[in-house]
Amino acid sequence: MAEEIATVEAARDAFDRDFEKFNDLNPNGSSLADIEAMLREVGEIKVRHTGKKSALAESKKLIGKVSPEERGEFGQFVQAIEKSILERIEAVETALNEWVSKAKIEAERLDVTIPGRRPRTGHLHPITILRQKIEDIFVSMGYAIEDDREIETDYYNFDALNIPEGHPARESQDTFYTTDGFALRSQTSTVQIRAMERRGVPIRIIAPGKVFRRDTPDMTHVPMFHQIEGLCVDKGITMAHLKGTVTEWLKRLFGEDTVTRFRPSYFPFTEPSAEFDFSCFKCHGTGQFEGERCRPCKGSGWIELGGSGMVHPNVLRAVGIDPQEYSGFAFGFGLERMAALMYNIDDIRHMFENDVRFLEQFR
Ligand code: DAH
Repeated sequence: MAEEIATVEAARDAFDRDFEKFNDLNPNGSSLADIEAMLREVGEIKVRHTGKKSALAESKKLIGKVSPEERGEFGQFVQAIEKSILERIEAVETALNEWVSKAKIEAERLDVTIPGRRPRTGHLHPITILRQKIEDIFVSMGYAIEDDREIETDYYNFDALNIPEGHPARESQDTFYTTDGFALRSQTSTVQIRAMERRGVPIRIIAPGKVFRRDTPDMTHVPMFHQIEGLCVDKGITMAHLKGTVTEWLKRLFGEDTVTRFRPSYFPFTEPSAEFDFSCFKCHGTGQFEGERCRPCKGSGWIELGGSGMVHPNVLRAVGIDPQEYSGFAFGFGLERMAALMYNIDDIRHMFENDVRFLEQFR
């Protein structure tokens, strides 16, 4: 049996030599890749020393060859060697795997206490903020919001609004023309005509939108700006309805104590016509703010806002409505000057330069 024992011992010694480096294993300081390489090597050693073609497997075949008296003892010997080899391999594999999973957890750990990166949220343009406030007020008063085209014909921009060719009002609203007879609208009053054609009467609408004029930009002029047009036509509408409506929406926008004032004026599409002012939102009409001349109203106590009047019979006729039966009021005003006063902006060109440092101040 001595020969067989020597064979088994040789197999064990060969394993010992190969496995020596794992005897006192200390993975600290090794990288994850190193540890994974070690695991692969342990796997290879396992195959080589305990697999089907290993010396140990050969040794086991010898069990049947020793004499029956010695077979029990030899069998136990072989099994004990095999068991110790497998146990050592398993111990090392377990240690390495533990280290790998610890290293992975460490690598994936995240520090929830690190301050996050704040996303830069977008926000609305000051003109949009103001427009939406005014839209909400009119919707609550039963008005519909009309959106319409910015490219128009002379007919809608002027003729239908009682501004025939050669009328001096055309000059003050010079706009941009295309070569084929179209123009960028110079006023949202065009939507009065479009909306009445589309919806008929009675009608209550406001029409916010862009308008264009051939102006050289300066602190108070830009060639594109925004207006809101209002129109109410029904049976029995009077100037009192106009005054009541304008007074009411300005109170809702600037507060209950806001006072409105109408001054006689002229517009081709209204008769009679009036410009309307409201008591300054800053000094509440006193003209003084903190002992000094109030800035938005320049000390007058009033802020001029827009034009208005009773819809001219010719305008109603242009859309096929009998002015004997129906009457209405209209008004229109610009948003830029209003926003500039409310937000204390000294140059309206800022509003269209798209400088985020400027725009992000208004929320
Ligand atoms: N469309 C006029 C302008 O651009 C403003 C205006 C005045 C509109 C009187 C109206 C109105 O509806 O009745 O200057």
